[in-house]
Amino acid sequence: MAESLNFTGRWSLKGMTAVVTGGTRGIGHAIVEELAGFGVTVHTCSRNQEELDQCLREWKNKGFDVTGSICDLFHRDQREKLMETVSSIFHGKLNILVNNAAKGMIKDAVDYTPEDISSIMSTNFESVFHLCQLAYPLFKASEYGSIVSISSNSSVVAIPSLSVYEASKGAVNQITKNLACEWAKDNIRVNAVSPGLIRTSL
Ligand SMILES: NC(=O)c1ccc[n+]([C@@H]2O[C@H](COP(=O)([O-])OP(=O)(O)OC[C@H]3O[C@@H](n4cnc5c(N)ncnc54)[C@H](OP(=O)(O)O)[C@@H]3O)[C@@H](O)[C@H]2O)c1
Repeated sequence: MAESLNFTGRWSLKGMTAVVTGGTRGIGHAIVEELAGFGVTVHTCSRNQEELDQCLREWKNKGFDVTGSICDLFHRDQREKLMETVSSIFHGKLNILVNNAAKGMIKDAVDYTPEDISSIMSTNFESVFHLCQLAYPLFKASEYGSIVSISSNSSVVAIPSLSVYEASKGAVNQITKNLACEWAKDNIRVNAVSPGLIRTSL
């Protein structure tokens, strides 16, 4: 996919900068390679240093311009540190934010603990909203921004035992609409993509 693009296509995103959360596996990994293949300078994050280092080595060997840092998106202070790092690497500017990382959990509704609910909502929804807030001044400095949040088609149907995950994605859909309206005046586009089932580690 990305190898076949390698800056030789009919268009390019060379010169753009992007943050992609959860780029070490699955859909996020493919997004990093796709963007980097189009010439974007990408920063990604995950919670596993060894896996992140392995990915960074592979991307370097492919000629992709990708950096990465450890961040557990559940924690507010780690999100702030991530975006401070991003701001420092990209000189206070950013063009693209891909909110990809999320936590899944399969449980009957009666079995969810307060900790389960808090961890799913913080990782899947609050972190998306918070990263958008943190990215806003960087987009303003660029005079252009694009946010893409990975939702799920399960956000608009009811799949048994996925109630809180689906609610978190429904909240992502809603905030996508709100921010798209609120930030259009700032030349910031806000969209969500809702995949169906894709074979990944999730
Ligand atoms: N796969 C599907 O069928 C499917 C369908 C619809 C929607 N989606 C959505 O697509 C997105 C990607 O899913 P996927 O299937 O590619 O997942 P995945 O294979 O499990 O990959 C998740 C990535 O996010 C990182 N991550 C997970 N929790 C994190 C946290 N708290 N902080 C920072 N990084 C974290 C993981 O690395 P570490 O674990 O090392 O942190 C990994 O790089 C998610 O938003 C998911 O809800 C997936």
